Amino acid sequence: MNYYNLGSQHIWLPYTQMQNHLKQLEVENALGSKIFLKNHQVLIDGIASWWSVAHGYNHPYLVKEMLNQAQHLSHIMLAGLAMESTYKLAYRLSEFCGLKRVFFSDSGSTAIEVAMKIAWQYHININQKNKTKFIAFKNSYHGDTTGAMSLADLSSGMHQKFKNLLLENFSLDFPRDLNQLDEFSNFLKKNNQKIAGIFIEPMVQCAGGMHIQNDKILQEIFKIAKDNKILIVADECATGFYRTGKKFAYQFTDLMPDILCVGKALTAGMLTLSATLTTSEIYQSFLSESLDKALMHGPTFMGNPLACSVANASLDLFEQEDYALKVSNIERILKIEFAKFIKFKRVIEINVIGAIGVVRIDLNWQEILNLRQRFIELGVFIRPFANTIYLMPSLTISNQELLLLTNKISQVLTEINN
Ligand SMILES: Cc1ncc(COP(=O)(O)O)c(C=O)c1O
Repeated sequence: MNYYNLGSQHIWLPYTQMQNHLKQLEVENALGSKIFLKNHQVLIDGIASWWSVAHGYNHPYLVKEMLNQAQHLSHIMLAGLAMESTYKLAYRLSEFCGLKRVFFSDSGSTAIEVAMKIAWQYHININQKNKTKFIAFKNSYHGDTTGAMSLADLSSGMHQKFKNLLLENFSLDFPRDLNQLDEFSNFLKKNNQKIAGIFIEPMVQCAGGMHIQNDKILQEIFKIAKDNKILIVADECATGFYRTGKKFAYQFTDLMPDILCVGKALTAGMLTLSATLTTSEIYQSFLSESLDKALMHGPTFMGNPLACSVANASLDLFEQEDYALKVSNIERILKIEFAKFIKFKRVIEINVIGAIGVVRIDLNWQEILNLRQRFIELGVFIRPFANTIYLMPSLTISNQELLLLTNKISQVLTEINN
């Protein structure tokens, strides 16, 4: 039975025009930064399954801990019943992230939905009922669920068509210089009475185009939001867990967010799990004698013990090994190798931070699709989008594998510039 052929009559793929899409690559298994295909081809992976596979595929320690938990119990509902791995993760994550309370959910998008509800209800609970709007930045991406889409830039992009379905929020340009910071500050001063929170992907707007920020500007944005008593929601689904070189990208500032969303690398890409963390102060506002101030949210698989056990194991690895060092080594190589791409005339911009390398290039959509195919022929899994080729590999990728990825980018840049 070939289930790929049978299933392809039924499956609906992400972000895909199903009428004419390329055939998916059939995967046998994956190890470290290598993906083994059924046709015996081996691909070096440059994007770590949408940036989640922090320690490489099939890490033996993560597999062992997950199997161990599965043998005990995979799931138990987090209402009236509790398993140690879930509570252990709440404790450890709070220590690891620096925020006191942890609300678990299933994906990055749902972590954002929860953050929106917490920020919104917090103001109701403290009697500031007019604070109902959110600010998000142009080019941001916070997920595909309805609340998360309403934080997207709806003037363009893939969520634009849903505009009438969504909540009305403020979508601002990300300030790039002092003048723009002034405009941003004025906007917040003028509107702070209606704004519940500001959603930020600190240091890098990832899915919205891999836009890297200046840390001094980020610091000012945090400061201006704090001065205006607007809650800062740091969406670190993509940037968390050392991706930018620091444990969390908000640490490029000396201020704390009020709410932090994590997902993706939380389980190192092993299972789906996310968390929304908040301060004691916000949490306290939900306490009262009755249910009316409580947070009414509770996904079925909330705090799933199997996912929590892998997340605990992943934290073990983050704590046992020096990931800041691993990422600074990746950053060093990316900076050297990406700098060489500037010689290609269709290259518009190059940028590197931590384990993220970005090449902006003058290409049309068909050329991008062709590039995806070309990379596979060359033995690497790199998926350019919009006008961007980027690398966000596993943080444990070897120097040799990383250089292979950058060499293949160099090769395709040579080909398209000829
Ligand atoms: C910054 C950010 N937030 C939220 C999400 C949504 O996460 P998920 O796809 O797990 O729902 C993503 C996914 O790419 C993301 O990059």
